[in-house]
Amino acid sequence: MEGNPVRVSFVAGSAGAWRVERTVLVRGEELPAAPRLQRVEGGSFVAPPEATWVLGGVRSNERYVELEERRRLVAVQEDLGRASSTQAALIPLRKSKAWWALAQDERRAIFEARSRHIEIGLEYLPAVARRLYHSRDLGGPFDFLTWFEFAEGDAGAFDELVGRLRETEEWSYVEREIEVRLSRA
Ligand code: HEM
Repeated sequence: MEGNPVRVSFVAGSAGAWRVERTVLVRGEELPAAPRLQRVEGGSFVAPPEATWVLGGVRSNERYVELEERRRLVAVQEDLGRASSTQAALIPLRKSKAWWALAQDERRAIFEARSRHIEIGLEYLPAVARRLYHSRDLGGPFDFLTWFEFAEGDAGAFDELVGRLRETEEWSYVEREIEVRLSRA
């Protein structure tokens, strides 16, 4: 229906365009292991009965980006689906009650003024293409499903990026995080 947000289902199981290379449990509870993953975006949520797990999310409006930051992002970022992007990562995250109890301006201050999330991220563009999905309001086990695509030669840069973000004050509010690393094979 027009006006509905774009939905995504991440389906883990024995089928899918992406092969699971490794799963890193960063914090909190693990997800069951599966050999393959499919990202199904658009249309309805899907939940094949044979799936090991399915995570659903929606594309949403931005919460924190300011105009000048958006200009800088749009000037350099590239879209998903590049032929060179043979590697991907799905990182579902949940933030703590303490995070959600903060006021909007406090969250923005932590996210950018103190943690430099966008400033750090910009250093890795356009090598890393990204998409943020929200799932908190759907009542799932995660607040966000984050998706990244990059070339094999940029996998080290991606490791460095996630390492830097995990040292920030913003990440002290992350209570569950799993990094599923994938290759298109
Ligand atoms: C949110 C940029 C990498 C996790 C955002 C937002 C931007 C951004 C602009 C704010 C969206 C809004 O206004 O609502 C980037 C850039 C990256 C990058 C340029 C470089 C590739 C990452 C990585 C992770 C991540 C590697 C996970 C390990 C998140 C999460 C949010 C977010 C969870 C939502 C935060 C919240 O709403 O509380 N990112 N990001 N980002 N990003 Fe990143």
